[in-house]
Amino acid sequence: MPLVSLTLSSLLFAIAVNANPVILDQATVAVPITRITQMEGIRNVVQLDRARASYLNARGTDQSFAQDPHPNEEPIFNGMDIYLAQVAVGTPPTSYSLIVDTGSSNTWVGANKSNPYNVFSETSKYTFNAVNVNYGSGSFAGNEFDDQVSFGSFSIDQSIGAAAAARGFRGVDGILGLGPTNLTKGTLKPDIEKAIPTVVDNAVSQGIIGSPLLSAYLEPNQANHQGNGVLTFGALDNTNRAGEVIYAPITQTLPAGAYWGINQTTSYGSHKIVNNGAGIVDTGTTLLLLDEPSFQVYQQATGGTLDSKTGLLTISKSQYEQLLPLIFQIGDHTIQLSPNGQIWPRFQNTAIGGEQDKIYLAVASADLGELGFILGFTFLQRYLTVYDSEARRVGFAATRFTFSNIN
Ligand SMILES: *[C@@H]1O[C@H](CO)[C@@H](O)[C@H](O)[C@H]1NC(C)=O
Ligand SMILES: *[C@@H]1O[C@H](CO)[C@@H](O)[C@H](O)[C@H]1NC(C)=O
Ligand SMILES: *[C@@H]1O[C@H](CO)[C@@H](O)[C@H](O)[C@H]1NC(C)=O
Repeated sequence: MPLVSLTLSSLLFAIAVNANPVILDQATVAVPITRITQMEGIRNVVQLDRARASYLNARGTDQSFAQDPHPNEEPIFNGMDIYLAQVAVGTPPTSYSLIVDTGSSNTWVGANKSNPYNVFSETSKYTFNAVNVNYGSGSFAGNEFDDQVSFGSFSIDQSIGAAAAARGFRGVDGILGLGPTNLTKGTLKPDIEKAIPTVVDNAVSQGIIGSPLLSAYLEPNQANHQGNGVLTFGALDNTNRAGEVIYAPITQTLPAGAYWGINQTTSYGSHKIVNNGAGIVDTGTTLLLLDEPSFQVYQQATGGTLDSKTGLLTISKSQYEQLLPLIFQIGDHTIQLSPNGQIWPRFQNTAIGGEQDKIYLAVASADLGELGFILGFTFLQRYLTVYDSEARRVGFAATRFTFSNIN
């Protein structure tokens, strides 16, 4: 169950100044999320990530892309792992499992035809808009409603999509869109220029949380442990944070600047891989994606060879022992992705068509267009990320998994 708590400092503040009326604006809401591994058949994670990258690239540059039909053969939103939030919608409430997505911003339900949006909800109001979003490896189309949306104990009025048709989603009900608000523009008809406030925006404007801050803690895959995660609305997730937060301003460079995008320089030993590139942090991408030239530098530096079955680089045990950390320079700070953090979780090798005792790198190439890189789960499962739409910045903090050797 979600927990509503006040941060310690605001609580102490409240006690200290109890005699005076104060507005407590530091409320924090922690919402647990569940990781599921989609194991039906062998997934080509690289191809799925490439489809996603091509969408992100086009959508970040051109708003009209949101409603273009882009048929895609691969019928799944994400490759292997997805993180789901349980959301209740309407009165009486219907429960939905929604994909946590920082790379898109529409929240919608109805991907599972057996669990549709309830138009008879007492709190349901039709907005007289159709809604349509294409995700590169999936899409949905339907109508937009205002309704009550709850994460357990907290409820907001929220505009959500009700899918009449959805493609590319299996075992989930839709998406919890946690990207920047402006990414919703172009998704409604006829209000094509209208932005739809996200759940974070509404939680702030309706007094549930004090500031438009979201922390995402995503636990990595482990053979013997169900790694889940937590979304913390309104504050830094100090429970799962194991180091200081390093912030990077949202980049001005498009298309990355339309997302949770930052500038950074990536190096591996003495090799510069990304030189002040503008890329994004995305919970809808599995791997760490580089463009072809950057990827070639990485491949040469690590000595990896391309494996045709998985589409990933493979390295020998001795090459793995020589593997160096990837260094990300963000402003004046550096953070690193450890050697173990760069490899695909070995217990999941066969699930992607690989061999059990091989070592695959979870860093892949994609045609990223004008995006400099995409940091997917390879990275996000090693760092807590903080999305701050007021200060327009993204933060990174180490967790207990940053330097662990679980892969
Ligand atoms: C779709 O929803 C129905 C009704 O809630 C549920 O029984 C079924 O398991 C769901 N299907 C999937 C694939 O999640
Ligand atoms: C959203 O779009 C509006 C209008 O195009 C623009 O003025 C505003 O700065 C954008 N907001 C952000 C946070 O980029
Ligand atoms: C990011 O890099 C671009 C290109 O070098 C530069 O114009 C911009 O000022 C940098 N910083 C931000 C916050 O966008």
